[in-house]
Formats: sequence, C-alpha cells, structure tokens
Amino acid sequence: MDRESDLEEEVRMMVASLRRHAQRLERAGIRSVPVGNADGGVVGGAPQAGWLSGVEGGLFSDSTEAYRAQSLEELRSAIGDCRRCKLWPGRTHLVFGVGNPRAEVMFIGEGPGRDEDLQGEPFVGRAGQLLTDIIVRGMGLRRDDVYIANVIKCRPPDNRNPEPDEVESCEPFLLKQIELVKPRIIVALGKFAAQTLLKTKVPIMRLRGIWHEFRGIKIMPTLHTAYLLRNPGDKKLVWEDIKKVIKELRTPAL
Ligand code: URA
Repeated sequence: MDRESDLEEEVRMMVASLRRHAQRLERAGIRSVPVGNADGGVVGGAPQAGWLSGVEGGLFSDSTEAYRAQSLEELRSAIGDCRRCKLWPGRTHLVFGVGNPRAEVMFIGEGPGRDEDLQGEPFVGRAGQLLTDIIVRGMGLRRDDVYIANVIKCRPPDNRNPEPDEVESCEPFLLKQIELVKPRIIVALGKFAAQTLLKTKVPIMRLRGIWHEFRGIKIMPTLHTAYLLRNPGDKKLVWEDIKKVIKELRTPAL
C-alpha cells in the first residue's frame, strides 16, 4: 500500500472508532460531551464535575445512575445485582469496597478471592491479613482509615486472571469510586491493578517503587500481597515502596 492509502485507512479507522464511541455515549444517555480548553480543563456542558464527566463518561454504557452517583452508597446501589459480565453466576457476593469514604490512601487490588467472595469484603483472606499488617503495623493507620477496592468486583472462577471484557464492564465503577473518594495516593497492588490503571503492559517489577500519576492522583505500584505470601523474600521491596507512601503522606498537601 502507498502512503496515501495508508493515511486513508487510518482516517477510516479513526472515524469508525469515533462512531462506536458516540454510540456508547448515546446508549448512556449522554447527548453532549464537554469541550476541552487550552489548559486541558473542561468548558461548558459537563453533566457533572470530576474527570468522569469527560470522555470517560462514555465508559458507562448502561449505567447513567452510576455515572451520576454522588456518594459511594449511591454508586453501590446503582451497580445493583450486577449482571453486566459473565462473572455474576459464580459469585456469592459482589465485593464493592470498604473503608473511609474520604481516605487519603486507596489500595486497589485485582479481584475478590474465595474469602472475599464469601464475606463480601475485599482483602479479608490471607493476602488481606498481610495487607492489614502493612496498613496497621507498617503505616501506623487503621484499616478503616484507608479505602480498599479491587479492579473487578466479582470473583473469577478458580481465581483466574480477570478477562478484558470483565475489566471493561467493571472499570467504570472503579474509576467512579476513585472520583468519589478523591484519595491523595493510590497504592496499586500487583501487576493487574497497576497495568489496568496506568494502561500499560510494563512489568510490575519495573513499575513498582516509582511514583506515577493517575489523573492528578499519585500512584505507587507495588507487589501484590498474594505474591508476597509465595515470595516472602520480596517483602523488603514492598516495604521500600510503602516507606515512600508514608513519606509522601507526611508531606503537607499543596
Ligand atoms: N486479592 C485481591 O486482589 N483482592 C482481594 O480482595 C483479595 C485478594
């Protein structure tokens, strides 16, 4: 193909992708999208404050109620008895999230395991006990000072990795949780949470221990506590990362 037909193909693909996006917005009941100004801010027509009011609002294909939720309770009730992906028949509980709705620090894991599915609360099994130790003994906080959630809210069969369609269904709810809690810092636990939030395939060993930015929020990727149970020798790496989080928390917010 010559360069001109390459370009035509590229434009055709962009138009098709924009059309698909517009159709999703329409299904979500969104008739107009805010227009960015020169500073990257938003002018006019935004249905609601916060970064979900931009293009990300289109992630809510059937969930305008969730999109408009003003509190975690409203968001939870909008999610309802969710059947948006193929995980619902296998779950006991949908595991939404737990903790301080105004937390400065939010921990985000992958998805519920067996104990979490049974109890309806994230990080309550062995990996959860280790996370609680990190929060309480390592950081000097209480578990209910922080907010804890997962990328996906329902347990995958046999704890397999979440699949892309499952993440696509659930991700808007995580983004909305983050928008509502407005943490100063997110600790992304493990490859899956870090790669999903940062939209990258870079391995967790290269992401961890370095501050990243997620829509104006500082994000510290670190190793998952389930991994640490199998590889206790790497606990020192997580401690290094958590010390950076503690230091940042002690720095007055601007
Ligand atoms: N692992 C996770 O990623 N999340 C949980 O809630 C429990 C274990």
